[in-house]
Amino acid sequence: MEKIIIFDTTLRDGEQSPGASLEPKEKLELAMQLERLGVDIIEAGFPVASSGDFDAVCLVAKSIKKTFICALARAIKKDMDTALKALKKAKYPRLHIFLATSKIHMKYKLRKAEDEILNIASWAVKYAGRYIDNIEFSPEDASRSEPEFLYRVIEAVIDAGATTINIPDTVGYAVPDEFGDLIRNIKSNVPNINKVVLSVHCHNDLGLAVSNSLSAIKNGARQIECTVNGIGERAGNASLEEIVMAVKTRRDFFGFLTSINTGEIYKTSKLVSKLTGLIVQPNKAIVGQNAFAHESGIHQDGVLKKCTTYEIMKPGEIGLSSSSIVLGKHSGRHAFKDRLKKLGFNLRESELEKAFRFFKELADKKKFIYDEDIETIIDGKLKEVSQTWKLIYFHISAGTHTVPTATIKLKSKDGVFNEASSGDGPVDACYKAIDKITRIKGELKNYSIQAVTSGKDALGEVTVHVRSKGNIATGKYASTDVIEASVKAYLNAINKLISKLK
Ligand code: KIV
Ligand code: ZN
Repeated sequence: MEKIIIFDTTLRDGEQSPGASLEPKEKLELAMQLERLGVDIIEAGFPVASSGDFDAVCLVAKSIKKTFICALARAIKKDMDTALKALKKAKYPRLHIFLATSKIHMKYKLRKAEDEILNIASWAVKYAGRYIDNIEFSPEDASRSEPEFLYRVIEAVIDAGATTINIPDTVGYAVPDEFGDLIRNIKSNVPNINKVVLSVHCHNDLGLAVSNSLSAIKNGARQIECTVNGIGERAGNASLEEIVMAVKTRRDFFGFLTSINTGEIYKTSKLVSKLTGLIVQPNKAIVGQNAFAHESGIHQDGVLKKCTTYEIMKPGEIGLSSSSIVLGKHSGRHAFKDRLKKLGFNLRESELEKAFRFFKELADKKKFIYDEDIETIIDGKLKEVSQTWKLIYFHISAGTHTVPTATIKLKSKDGVFNEASSGDGPVDACYKAIDKITRIKGELKNYSIQAVTSGKDALGEVTVHVRSKGNIATGKYASTDVIEASVKAYLNAINKLISKLK
């Protein structure tokens, strides 16, 4: 099966993302990971742009020995000399020369006529050819160039010695059918095109970079330029992981291979995000944190029965250990039971029902239910002691300029009782009101509160040690409302003390 060459430009175009800037050492760390990922070519930088970029390309070039290292240059002697110097120690070097061919770029940016552009392009490739064999040429803004002129430039640079012709959709203007047609037309209108590898480089301004690249593959492109996480100038470049996984998952449709070791995708994505500071959106295809997460009960049930019901790729294919079933308010019994089993709880059917009810109550208050929440539900709620006193409600009033007061309503087999109290704080006020109702003067020996899960909506677990008449009892309760947790933990201890006194 024929192969699609993966040209990674994370270190060059990716680094052009606003806000992303990489030190030479960081570029090397990333280049080493890109090599493990199995990309065919690493575009390491634009050496003339800054001394930092020059150093980074030198460092990557001398350290990476299995992968082609590419450096970018304009069709200017100084650029090409600097890039060639930076590539000096590369085992497999490539020079990438670009020159704009669209009317708008030639007229306003370069202020040159068509013939001048044609001559410069051909001169630059010939000049580079004196020093290097592997030359890629990009007619910048190709997708907005006049096709006839574009064909002439491509033919001329191939004659001058270019070995790869890259067609950039520089401003992300193309749409898939049109871009595919452009590639097909280049193949049929440039007489010497079969001497080179045809490549594409798509930007994502209309969110079409991956679609345009895939359409190009269908129409004859054999090299794709892309970046990890799709980072790059403005809206970014075609995302490497999306292209690779599309080609792999739909091999039936595309009929190509890549040499990417897809098991390294997730790790590479994480590293790129860490080093560039560019966070991956949660719903990003392939590497977003939700890409393999199933929230709806119907989907969770389906995935647990047979993962292919809702998963077209296995999480392991990109290096994730498993799909994450995110428990939340849409989760059903099946997913809940499965998670309990994984956490080592083997509950009887009646306990399971009860735990599931607590889980649903919590899920109404809290968006994501973590494993620790479930453990707290089982430990704190299923193993409840006999409840002499049960909380009906509490109300507190507290603030910077008010005396904290609490009203508590409790129920016992003798009826419903109501009391109010003030205190040193809302918790103290609640405890005093409870003491009035239960007529047990609990001495609070210890009070602690701990967030047991992450996030602002974390469960707070309160632990109290209460002493009465020489007995000590521990009470625990977890809730997203810390006052509720405090009240219920105290009542839990009081009920234990009552059992001990009986
Ligand atoms: O987007 C672009 O046109 C480029 C070229 C340098 C290939 O990045
Ligand atoms: Zn680009």
